[in-house]
Amino acid sequence: MKKVIKRIGVLTNGGDCSGLNAAIRAVTFASVAKGWEVYGIHNGSNGLIVRPMEYERLTLGSFEFPYATMGGTMLGTNNSPILAHDNGLREKIDEASIKTRFKEGVDQLRLDALVVIGGDGSIPIFADLCKYAKIAMIGIPKTIDNDAPGTDLSIGFSTAREVVTDAMDKLDTTASSHHRVMLVEVMGRSAGHLALQSAITGFADAVLIPEIPYSYQNLVKHLRATQKKGRGHALVVIAEGIKKPDGECSLSNNSLTFNGVSQYFEQKLKRDGFEVRTNILGHIQRSGTPVAADRLLASAFGVHATELLAKGKTNRVVVHQAGVVTDISLRDSIKLGTTGVNRKSEIVRTARALGIYVGDIK
Ligand code: F6P
Repeated sequence: MKKVIKRIGVLTNGGDCSGLNAAIRAVTFASVAKGWEVYGIHNGSNGLIVRPMEYERLTLGSFEFPYATMGGTMLGTNNSPILAHDNGLREKIDEASIKTRFKEGVDQLRLDALVVIGGDGSIPIFADLCKYAKIAMIGIPKTIDNDAPGTDLSIGFSTAREVVTDAMDKLDTTASSHHRVMLVEVMGRSAGHLALQSAITGFADAVLIPEIPYSYQNLVKHLRATQKKGRGHALVVIAEGIKKPDGECSLSNNSLTFNGVSQYFEQKLKRDGFEVRTNILGHIQRSGTPVAADRLLASAFGVHATELLAKGKTNRVVVHQAGVVTDISLRDSIKLGTTGVNRKSEIVRTARALGIYVGDIK
């Protein structure tokens, strides 16, 4: 592994979210301050694998246009699986050649290290590729699902929570005017962080998350009880990854997208006499101006990543733990795996204390 850093690559991989550009900016600014050259690799790993390669030199001038205040990723991304041929690779390449091409790309750009802004799926794959290419790798977690290992915050989560909260504020007024039950389906895959926290910040009456079993009857009982207490409408947040009462998950056949589990509840609640409307918020949760909390996190993560490289570290993942930005080993990150909502946590207790139905298991 080369120890003295002169040139680094930075890329984004996996689903986009707000705050990625702020992270790219932070890596660039902190690296330029150290006298390093920075190369932004386009479309995840693909920029190093396609021929001609797709990349750009990043300097302070690259941010004259205010990318960092925008959602999305200025470098483009490549959704998982990381080596899929349908994600920007215009030719079919086998796995062994991908590794060889990746190394060729690294050598051609004379990179000493790579900063990977990605999900928990991407980072270990890049660690393998970087090991093969004999360069250092530092991971920076991003995901609106907020379930990345070892970190209590990931880039993109705070903005997504803001988007959901804002949507709920808007839905609340129309639900209230019409005395309706408004179902709000929220992303998060198998983690309920986004749904649960947005249920609190958006003042919901109930939230169903994958980590806590619920019963449909108890949800209905709760809605009727709140009606009796004088509330004429209700907001119910449904995490996309929950199972239906029969245990069936709404994942589509390709196991990548969810099929709108909230529609099932709409039908059922209508049959039980409620006036119901459903809103599946979808990909707006992945975009929008990054909120200050995401800009701060992305900036601190980017700076920390470059400091790790300057110290000669590799295979570390930057994390946020109890208010502090630090890092963990890739091995620990893989061992920890994704982290869902702890049903005994403060946040679950807070939601319940506010009278929100959060499933049945305490
Ligand atoms: O993991 C982030 C996420 O936004 C999930 O919350 C969601 O289920 C998924 O990605 C959507 O993926 P895609 O952009 O491939 O539809």
